[in-house]
Amino acid sequence: MNPPSFIDLHSHLAPGVDDGSASVEESLTCLAALRAEGVGALVTTPHLLLPHLATDSDIDAQLDFHRQAFDELAEAASGRRDLPAIGLGQEIWAPDAAQIRRVVRRTDVGLGRGRFLLVEFGFDLKGTHEDVVRAVLDAGRGIVVAHPERYRYRPGVPPLEQMRRWRELGALLQVNAGSFNGHYRNQNSAAEGLAWGMVEAGMVDLVSTDHHGIRRMGVSLREAFEALAGRGEQELAERVLARAPGQVVRADLVAGDSEVVSSPGAVGSSRSP
Ligand SMILES: [Fe+2]
Repeated sequence: MNPPSFIDLHSHLAPGVDDGSASVEESLTCLAALRAEGVGALVTTPHLLLPHLATDSDIDAQLDFHRQAFDELAEAASGRRDLPAIGLGQEIWAPDAAQIRRVVRRTDVGLGRGRFLLVEFGFDLKGTHEDVVRAVLDAGRGIVVAHPERYRYRPGVPPLEQMRRWRELGALLQVNAGSFNGHYRNQNSAAEGLAWGMVEAGMVDLVSTDHHGIRRMGVSLREAFEALAGRGEQELAERVLARAPGQVVRADLVAGDSEVVSSPGAVGSSRSP
């Protein structure tokens, strides 16, 4: 089996801004390891915790903080052929439509400045959160739901049915690479089974690392590729680890220059790129 060049759309490798990588050196170490296992391009997505940011100027300050950390990393990575190309995005915590509407029209928010937003609803779901999906799509953006296999669903709500509903509305579902081999077993015993259940149901759109730096290693796109291919899902693996994320960012990702050509319509017109 010959893996394609992977594209990772979810990681916490902007140094010193969240619970991910703590320093430029740590980020460079992680990026080199990712490149060695076949990652060609990566968008790092620091947490943007909207419920903790009271005002628009708090959001501005947080995005500036992310940008400065990313620029510092990009400068250190410049010219290094042993690293993936890098871009900047956010993992946006938005439990309801009112929260996501605070950022949904900002051009400085999105995966690699493209049209897609990476959104998480919170680990303990409080409702269907379908209003968040609608608010993003109504604004003409695309939405990637981060790691739905890791959420704790409300009693009586079958997780795969809720996921199907988000997807029918137009969301893409992003599974964490580590879920396929039980990386989150200690936090959520259901995540592994749900990840494979999503494979069986045809509901995996993207697989990303959600890499949090050297203190939380053990997430590998290569291992996810091999796990999927080992169960006869090589075509799916190539799509969700390489082709689909490539279409989401339509990337000209260059270290030090995260300007990405967004592709209105190209991905949004087909939820299964
Ligand atoms: Fe994350």
